[in-house]
Amino acid sequence: MTRTLLPDLTPDRVAAAARRVMARCDELARVTAAPGEIERVYLSTEHARVNRLAAEWMREVGMSTRQDAAGNQIGRLHPSTGSGHRASDRDAPALMIGSHLDTVPDAGRFDGIVGVLMALEVVRLLRVPSPSGEGSVSPLPFAIEVVAFSDEEGTRFGKALLGSSAVAGTWNDDWWQLTDADGTTLRQAALEFGLDPGRIGEAARRPDELVGYLEAHIEQGPELDRRGESLAVVSSIASARRFQLVVEGEARHAGGTPYDMRHDALLGASEAALAVERICRGEHHVIGTVGQLEAFPGAVNIVPGEAHFSLDLRGEFDGERDRVWDSLSRELDVIMGRRGLRWRSREVHNAAAVMCAPLLQDVIRAGIRGALPDLPGDPATLFSPAGHDGMSIGAITDVGMLFLRNPDGISHHPDEAVSAADVALGIRALAESVLHLAAEPR
Ligand code: GLV
Ligand code: MN
Ligand code: MN
Repeated sequence: MTRTLLPDLTPDRVAAAARRVMARCDELARVTAAPGEIERVYLSTEHARVNRLAAEWMREVGMSTRQDAAGNQIGRLHPSTGSGHRASDRDAPALMIGSHLDTVPDAGRFDGIVGVLMALEVVRLLRVPSPSGEGSVSPLPFAIEVVAFSDEEGTRFGKALLGSSAVAGTWNDDWWQLTDADGTTLRQAALEFGLDPGRIGEAARRPDELVGYLEAHIEQGPELDRRGESLAVVSSIASARRFQLVVEGEARHAGGTPYDMRHDALLGASEAALAVERICRGEHHVIGTVGQLEAFPGAVNIVPGEAHFSLDLRGEFDGERDRVWDSLSRELDVIMGRRGLRWRSREVHNAAAVMCAPLLQDVIRAGIRGALPDLPGDPATLFSPAGHDGMSIGAITDVGMLFLRNPDGISHHPDEAVSAADVALGIRALAESVLHLAAEPR
């Protein structure tokens, strides 16, 4: 692949960009609903605040901005092709680069966030003054859009990827009835945020409006750290299903009820959680986690009559993931039958595995080589067991992802980290990837 444009990617400029990314990750970490922790969920006041900050930073690098009907914050750098007048290029296809600004509870400060901020720095590095003398434009044969997705984690409503599903045009109107922990429906939360549920379809993008989607993200696993490498190309993103399960037994006196008379729902749920581990451990490509477990009525002296728990099930391939769910369901029948319990499940999220486009894998590989010219051999190629916005966006355009080393692989935890040096390499690699893509025949 040949490069047609040579923007200034000197180490000092890229290092300054990385320092800005790190400082802004700190700044966004202060926008939180939980003092002393980081928590920013969909359609919250914190969501509105980070969108305002992101919009400011988008305008600072010459982008026009809008918040779409699903609360995604979008910046657009128009191309300078054709007449060179920005207004005439408003409909030009765009390369989307982005990630998400929402978080899990007690989150780290980089998951999603670093990818949005790196995308803004790529725009800063690549943009050129507009021929009309007003603002900046993209020197590439396409527009560049930076997207800060509003909900990737699904923390508030259980269903993940709400922001990117709206962009992909795969929004399901049943989701409006989803409720948060306080019983607020998604519809009510959207109205309170200032969005019009009736206009959600306007967030959808058409495939012909897009050149592709690129995302930089921390790895959220230990592979790069173990290999002593900074960056990787992502080959595919795991398929995921999430369930809320209920076990029903009988609440009775904790002192007076002999063991042979108990139908303890919490013990049934606990045995189910162990079965998840046992069954998934036996599988190479499927991983299951019970992250929530609650007993009812929840008193110290009552045998639990009901238990609620969550199940997050991921696989490299949809078929293997589904086969594991089928075996788990059979196992739950056995466990609950033996204990005299009933169980039921509600699926709250289902996303198919997404293969990263071979062309975008190639341009990211070339971008990594540009950032790391002394790397012996090919850059690492990793499969992503973590979910990403590209899982939805894959329905409308090609997806490519760049992973950054995440020390000790710890993520969804306050200790989540990435080094400024790796962010600098990542920015350089992402910028070069975009240039390689621009040099590809379209
Ligand atoms: C998102 O981070 C997920 O993989 O759950
Ligand atoms: Mn996450
Ligand atoms: Mn993420």
